[in-house]
Amino acid sequence: MAKSATIEIDGQKFEFPIITGTENEVAIDISSLRSATKGIITLDAGYKNTGSCKSKITFLDGENGILRYRGYSIEELAEKASFLEVAYLLIFGDLPTQEQYEKFYNDIKSYSVVDDDVRKIVDAFPKSAHPMGIVSSLTSALTAFNPSSVNVNSEQEAYKAIVRIIGKFPVLVAWTFRKKHGLPLDYGDKNLGYVENVLKMMFKQPNEDYVQNDVIVDALNKLLILHADHEQNCSTSTVRITGSSHAGLFVSLSAGISALWGPLHGGANQAVLEMLEAIKEDGGDTKKYMAKAKDKDDPFRLMGFGHRVYKNFDPRARIIKKAADEVLDDLGIDDPILDIAKGLEKEALEDQYFVDRKLYPNVDFYSGIIYRALGIPTDMFTVMFALGRLPGWIAQWFEMRLNKEPIGRPRQLYVGETARPFVPIEKR
Ligand code: CMC
Repeated sequence: MAKSATIEIDGQKFEFPIITGTENEVAIDISSLRSATKGIITLDAGYKNTGSCKSKITFLDGENGILRYRGYSIEELAEKASFLEVAYLLIFGDLPTQEQYEKFYNDIKSYSVVDDDVRKIVDAFPKSAHPMGIVSSLTSALTAFNPSSVNVNSEQEAYKAIVRIIGKFPVLVAWTFRKKHGLPLDYGDKNLGYVENVLKMMFKQPNEDYVQNDVIVDALNKLLILHADHEQNCSTSTVRITGSSHAGLFVSLSAGISALWGPLHGGANQAVLEMLEAIKEDGGDTKKYMAKAKDKDDPFRLMGFGHRVYKNFDPRARIIKKAADEVLDDLGIDDPILDIAKGLEKEALEDQYFVDRKLYPNVDFYSGIIYRALGIPTDMFTVMFALGRLPGWIAQWFEMRLNKEPIGRPRQLYVGETARPFVPIEKR
């Protein structure tokens, strides 16, 4: 591979170094472009060709469907690890020893109590509020009850911020769920594992004991791991860019939650299920919806299909599809929605429009079916995604700060009016 790339403008040559990552990915370092060319920039809407940072956290090869956290394959982690082990791996760089794991979880538990005043904020939301709006607001509100900025150079302070938010976030998720269902808020049970505690905090009825179901615990553990990081996606980039102004960790996470909410990103899991329901209500005619998805005059898209980076298959979708089958089987659920999803997938995979554009089912296509089987309502799906993505966002935020990355501030190509004189209102 050449060591540099040359751009020629009006006969003048500018050279830029070519750098290679540990997986032989190649990038042209154009950081000196604007100063060398006296003002020329690159234009790349949606950052389809732009690397925003160097990162050691997650490797993704979209052409070959590879996803690894800190070098470990997603398939192996989903099969063998616990969500908290994966969180530790993403944030600190290595899998924890037994001792490190126990300390990590004990510290998370010791910081998991949320200030009782936060309940008042929860109470102020109408029951009709979307859970993502509530969770994003509560995460931001935690800033008022906890230090807003973290001295990233203090290992102790950074560690405290990490265990604090990992401890408190599931409480916020569970409170959001319980508020919507008119259930009294719960502080969880320190004697349980992380995933078991999340489930109990959400589903425990006030007048009966909560009985854990291993199938549900396993499925949720897997889903959280599969969502835990995905390099520089929309919400993660939002977290990094918010934090790049040295805004605090919790508010940066809150910004990430808002970015995740959109239906083209994490909100797709809710949109997929609503789409499948609509197809079912409409008589199950998948062909009609395939035609709509291909019609350029129709804004309808096949939700859960396509990905900015995966152009072959989404490895997370493969694992989730298998898990959806197992969960429904284990729980004895016969869900017609799963049949519609499978039918739609088959048709899309054989359809020239989808083949030509390399559109495959993504992580969100089947995750909603599992969430539904676990008893999680549709409007909580994206919140569950956020719960999984939390360690990834934290890891990326710290990496960005420890790398001393500059404030994120893209340029633009101005295409508006040129200078014009002000006209008083009566003369317009
Ligand atoms: N249904 C129908 N057509 C589609 C779809 C779809 N789901 N996705 C892309 N296309 C078409 C699009 O119309 C365009 O066609 P053409 O070249 O004729 O104009 C072409 O495929 C390329 O699409 P794009 O929008 O330029 O691709 P992108 O990389 O900007 O967008 C995406 C990626 C995920 C936003 C998009 O595929 C999409 O909207 N999918 C549905 C929403 C969804 O499932 N999102 C979840 C993503 S995975 C979870 C996560 O990590 O966020």
